[in-house]
Formats: sequence, structure tokens, C-alpha cells
Amino acid sequence: MASLLLSLFSTLLLAATITECEAYSKTVKAPYPGPKPEKLTHLHFYFHVIDSGNKPTDVLVATGPTTNSSATNFGLVAIDDDPLTMGPDITSDEIGRAQGMYASTDQNKFGLLMAFNFVFTKGEFSGSTISMYGRNAILSKVREMPIIGGTGAFRFGRGYAQAKTFVYNTTSGNAVVVYNVYVWH
Ligand SMILES: *[C@@H]1O[C@H](CO)[C@@H](O)[C@H](O)[C@H]1NC(C)=O
Ligand SMILES: *[C@@H]1O[C@H](CO)[C@@H](O)[C@H](O)[C@H]1NC(C)=O
Repeated sequence: MASLLLSLFSTLLLAATITECEAYSKTVKAPYPGPKPEKLTHLHFYFHVIDSGNKPTDVLVATGPTTNSSATNFGLVAIDDDPLTMGPDITSDEIGRAQGMYASTDQNKFGLLMAFNFVFTKGEFSGSTISMYGRNAILSKVREMPIIGGTGAFRFGRGYAQAKTFVYNTTSGNAVVVYNVYVWH
């Protein structure tokens, strides 16, 4: 029995070794049909990260023992409740909030783990939410993050968000980021 298992194991190991230098993925036939989304919605808004003043919308909540000596702030955790507006100006119409957290999870380059809900408060999507979870390489021109779900109008939501820094003030730390979100729902 043991030798049978052993030979099975080495066969598997051999198979793994053979395919190792080939692609690590392939397209397979779906065992069952996936959901059929009805429509694709494109949302366009500005995401304001406010660090300055007495009502910051982005607060540092934790650091690890080596965060402050890390070039990428590895281990930092922050919580946000950031305004989302129609236009790039903070005084333009607020359409919702980006509520969530981010953590610095890359030791070599700036890379954040983002876990956010976009909570819409205006227009046809008022009361509905979209959940975004992904990696934000903040120094890249365009960052893409997955939309992994939603509520209300966005039930069964699937899609992606593309984020582009519009303005970043190095003195205040405030940033305006333009988001283009595409969701099948
Ligand atoms: C790192 O710096 C932040 C901000 O100045 C501070 O709140 C935190 O306590 C520091 N963390 C450590 C582990 O020293
Ligand atoms: C950047 O932030 C500083 C400090 O809050 C502020 O004085 C300055 O006007 C800001 N710059 C721009 C271009 O908004």
C-alpha cells in the first residue's frame, strides 16, 4: 500500500516537473453555466483621500514594528471614509463614499491591499454598494482592481476598477484619484 502511494506520488511529482516550465494555467470547459449578467454599467467619479485638517477621511490605525523603517511602509494599516464626487473638485456633487481599509503589503515596491465598499448616496444607485478588493500599485499610472460584488442594483456584481491619480499634494498628503468602474450586474 505504502509503495503504491509512493509510486503514485512520484508519478504526480514527475507530471508536475514536466509541466513546470510550461504555462501554469489553461482554459477549461465550465462544468456548469455561469451567471448571466444583464447589463454593464460604467461609473466615473473622483475619490478624495483627505489627510489634512481636523476631519481627515484617511486615518492611520496600525503600524508594525518595522513599518517606520520600511521604504514602502510595509505593515501600515489605514481606515478611510472618503468622499466620491462627480467632478475633481471637492465641492462638486458628492455621489457616495469609499469606505474601507488599505494595508501596505509589498516590501519592495509601493503596493497596497485595498478592501473598499463604494457606498452610493445619489441618483439611481443611491442605497446600492459595490465591493472592490485588490492590489493598488499607487505609483503606477493606472491601477486595476477587481470588483468582487455588490448590493442592491449591483447584486451579483462583477467587474473592474481603474484608478488614476489626478492630483497628489505632497505637503498635505491629500489625493484626488479618478475612478472608472465597469460592472456587470
Ligand atoms: C510609526 O509612525 C507612526 C506615525 O508617526 C506612529 O503613529 C507609530 O506609532 C510608529 N510606529 C512604531 C512601531 O514606532
Ligand atoms: C497642498 O497642501 C498644502 C498644505 O495643506 C496647502 O497649503 C497647499 O495650498 C496645497 N497645494 C495645492 C496645490 O492645493
